[in-house]
This record gives sequence, C-alpha cells and structure tokens, in this order.
Amino acid sequence: MSFRVAILGAGPSGLAQLRAFESARRDGAEVPEIVCYEKQSDWGGLWNYTWRTGLDAYGEPVHGSMYRYLWSNGPKECLEFADYSFEEHFGRPIPSYPPRAVLRDYIMGRVAKSNVRQYIRFSTAVHWVAHDETTGKFAVTVRDLKKDELSTEEFDHVIVATGHFSTPNAPYFEGLEKFPGRVLHAHDFRDAMEFQGKDLLLIGSSYSAEDIGTQCHKYGAKSVTFSYRSKPMGFDWPESFAEVPLLTEVIGKTARFKDGTSKEVDAIILCTGYQHHFPFLPNELTLNTHNRLYPEGLYKGIVSLANPKLMFLGMQDQYYTFNMFDAQAWYARDLMLGRIKVPAGPDMAADCTEWVAREEQVANPFEAIDFQAAYILDLLEPTDYPAFDVTAVAEIFKQWEHHKEADILGYRNKSYRSTLTGTLAPGHHTPWMDAMDDSLEAFLYEEQSQPAKESA
Ligand SMILES: Cc1cc2nc3c(=O)[nH]c(=O)nc-3n(C[C@H](O)[C@H](O)[C@H](O)COP(=O)(O)OP(=O)(O)OC[C@H]3O[C@@H](n4cnc5c(N)ncnc54)[C@H](O)[C@@H]3O)c2cc1C
Ligand SMILES: NC(=O)c1ccc[n+]([C@@H]2O[C@H](COP(=O)([O-])OP(=O)(O)OC[C@H]3O[C@@H](n4cnc5c(N)ncnc54)[C@H](OP(=O)(O)O)[C@@H]3O)[C@@H](O)[C@H]2O)c1
Repeated sequence: MSFRVAILGAGPSGLAQLRAFESARRDGAEVPEIVCYEKQSDWGGLWNYTWRTGLDAYGEPVHGSMYRYLWSNGPKECLEFADYSFEEHFGRPIPSYPPRAVLRDYIMGRVAKSNVRQYIRFSTAVHWVAHDETTGKFAVTVRDLKKDELSTEEFDHVIVATGHFSTPNAPYFEGLEKFPGRVLHAHDFRDAMEFQGKDLLLIGSSYSAEDIGTQCHKYGAKSVTFSYRSKPMGFDWPESFAEVPLLTEVIGKTARFKDGTSKEVDAIILCTGYQHHFPFLPNELTLNTHNRLYPEGLYKGIVSLANPKLMFLGMQDQYYTFNMFDAQAWYARDLMLGRIKVPAGPDMAADCTEWVAREEQVANPFEAIDFQAAYILDLLEPTDYPAFDVTAVAEIFKQWEHHKEADILGYRNKSYRSTLTGTLAPGHHTPWMDAMDDSLEAFLYEEQSQPAKESA
C-alpha cells in the first residue's frame, strides 16, 4: 500500500494501533508502511516503572508517573482486551486487582505474539511535526537519543499516542518555596517508604490523591490530610486521614486551609493532575483540552478537526482503558484504510459538538461510566474488533464504585467475573492492606490462593 503512517508513542494506545494494523494484515488486507517512534528504550508506556524523575539519561522529560507498589485501581475485568483474555495470558484465572508488573506482563504478552516490535524505533523522541499544505504530507522530526542525531521523514497520517498523564499540572500555593520539607508532584512520587512516620498533605481529590494517600498509609505514614478544591472524596476514611478544603498558604511547617483550620505537615504531594502537552505540535495542529471524557476538537474522540489525517488516541479521561484504546485504534485504522469515510468538516464538528454537549449533562460517576460505554459502542459498531460486552463491563465499574464506597482500604480484595470467559476471579492470597510485596511472582504465588467468591 502506498502510504505511510507515523505512530507517536508505544504505550498501550500506540501498541493498540500497531495491533489493529497487524490484525488487518493477517486477514489478508494490504496495510501501509508504519513507523512507531518511542522515546523510551522499551514498549509499555506508563506501565514501565522508572526510578528516574525529572530528565531521562538523554535530557528528555521522564515519561513515567507510576510508582512502586502500584496496584490496579480498577478491576482487571474492566480493561481486558477483547481478543486476549487474562486467562489466556496467564494460563489460569488470577485475582481481580493485579499490581503494575502483572498488568505490564499482560499488555506485553499480547503484543509480543503479534510481531509488531519491528515497526518501533526505540530511544527516539519526536521533536516536531509539520504539515505541508501543498503536498498534504507531514514531516516528522525525531531525535535518535543514542546517536544524538536529528532526522526527518514524511508521512501521510500521524497518530499521536503520547499519553496525557506525564506533564504535571503543578499549581503554586503561597509559602511553598519556604516549606522546610519535601514538595513534589505525584508524577515524581516513587516510593511510599520515604514517608514512613510522616504527616502528609496531599492536594487534590481524585485518583492520584486517593491512591498515593492510601498507599502511604499502608506503608506507615503517620497521617494523611487531603486538601480538595471542589469537593472531598467522601470515603469512610480511617482515623489517621482527614479531608479539608483547599490550602491557602504554608507558613513554616504549618499548612493553612480555606476553612481557617491548619495542620503541621512534613511533606506535601501535589496530586493535582496532568496537562495535555504536545510540545512537538504547531499551534494549528495541537489539542487543547483538560482531562475530560470527550475532548473538544476530536471527531469520534480521535480525528483532529484541524486536519483529519492527524489522529489522537487515548486522550480521554479514563474509566475504560485498554479496550477503549483498541476500539479507537480499530476505528482509526479503518479510516486510514478507507473502510470508514470521514464526513465533511462541518458534519464532523457537529457530531463532536453533540457528544461534548452530552458529556456536559453527565451528573455523577455512574452516568460518566454509561457515557464512556456509549462512546465505545459507537466506535465499535462499524469495525471488526472482536465483540465484547461493553454494557456488562459498565456494570462491573458500577459495582467497583459501590465497593470503594463501602471500604476504601478493602475494595481491592473483591472478585469479579470476566465478561469474556465467564470465569469468576479467585481471591488474592493476601488482603491488599497486608500485601507488601507487589512483584509478579508474589502475586501469582498459587498455594495460598483463596477460592473464587462472588462479590456482593
Ligand atoms: C499513576 C497512574 C496509574 C494508572 N493506573 C492505571 C490502572 O490501574 N489501570 C488502568 O487501566 N489505567 C491506569 N492508568 C491510566 C493510563 O493512562 C493507561 O493505562 C495507559 O498507560 C495509557 O496509555 P497511552 O499509550 O495512551 O499512554 P502512555 O502509557 O502514557 O504511553 C505513551 C507513550 O508515548 C511515549 N512518548 C511520549 N512523548 C513522546 C515523544 N515526544 N516521542 C516519542 N515517544 C513519546 C512515552 O514514552 C510512552 O511510552 C494510570 C495512569 C497513571 C498516571
Ligand atoms: N493505582 C492506580 O491505578 C492509579 C493511581 C493514581 C492515578 N491513577 C490514574 O491516573 C490518572 C490521573 O489521575 P489524577 O488524580 O492524577 O488526575 P485527575 O483525575 O485529573 O484529578 C486531578 C485532581 O487535581 C485537582 N486539581 C487540579 N488543579 C488544582 C488546583 N489548582 N488546586 C487544587 N486542586 C487541583 C482536581 O480538583 P477538581 O476536582 O477541583 O478539578 C482533581 O481532584 C487517572 O486515570 C487515574 O486512574 C491510577
């Protein structure tokens, strides 16, 4: 086939795009020439743990935001690839909330079987993407990090799959520069053991705050205070936790909050989310959005309204993850192969406006889950991505929400049934609060596995 596709990033989204083309190729379709640029030395995106913070060995920003002892914060049954079950990968059922290394192994297992590594140029950072109106082609300029060499190649389509949980959103609070303890963003958090015996202040009330806070508690922090901007998380926290309104200033070790209360703290972690950041895109091609379910400016949540040959994967706020990236990648592939037609500009914009308006009606997490399920079903309808029960997965997400509400430190001990295999996950051999070893070997250690028990 006589066109070229550049995929930027080999995390779960970029890998989904490679897999989508590979699946078409295996079915006998003619596929384009593909080059995937990845600045890390391996595939897996955020799922590769790195001890580094700040800049990497070559002076590029460190991509990794994951930390030691990170366990999945949602049931694995909600993110299962429709064409590769956990049971197929591990050869037996495994518990519902795996640690990072186990999920990484699963993601890698599928791509390792698919012969796509050959398309990836590792240790190669994308520095600039330009579009030539005359030729209709993109010029992608990259830096080979090992050779420290810049080079440029032309492509007909560019797929941006560089993630959006790596560039910190780090607001300033008065007095931070004089605070005598550590101040860091969640992106640079690596090891909860550092905070043993400490009084911690976490700014933010979303997943990073919740997970880093509970993890620090698990590994021995003395107290965890969450400071929220909009509303508290509202879980039934144990005694050493507190939720307070937004930080107003820090004087010495004393943090003062909007309601007039204060607290002495030893360290401050900004769990204030991330920026969609594309330093390699010119103004007219970039995507400006916050973390939301339907970013504006993307038809079907994928296609740039500025230039339909430029597409973005995985830019949404995420309930669904790996299977949503697959749905997007299959759709994007079929657009590029001409199996699905891109409508005229105004029709794309109107479709996008409709979805954005629908998102604005979403009033609570249950509606958010249903919204994302509807979005995925819309993408799947015209493609040949293997059927999976998107609505049944939404029901598991809702159970998950109930389980978190009932027991924020114990929800990871629950089991769910795979919508692909029908198998109920066994219980983990150790309750999450006591499971200090997050290695793949410890998690898969079978002798003491609990029998499967349906979660109420
Ligand atoms: C702390 C944390 C925990 C999470 N936990 C879960 C979880 O438990 N379950 C879940 O389903 N999801 C979780 N997620 C969500 C996560 O976003 C997805 O699972 C997934 O990693 C997103 O895949 P992606 O490919 O879109 O992005 P990423 O995984 O971020 O991959 C992007 C890739 O692009 C590369 N890249 C970036 N810039 C460039 C450049 N200029 N040039 C070349 N390459 C570049 C990066 O090196 C990276 O490999 C978590 C996210 C965070 C931050
Ligand atoms: N174990 C795990 O699996 C795990 C752990 C951590 C993170 N994650 C994933 O990582 C992703 C990112 O989560 P996240 O929590 O980092 O980001 P997020 O969901 O975008 O939440 C950002 C938080 O920062 C707050 N905030 C933003 N700007 C602020 C400001 N100026 N002052 C005060 N507060 C501010 C927001 O408050 P408002 O509510 O007021 O906007 C919100 O609470 C999610 O997909 C999540 O699932 C997973």
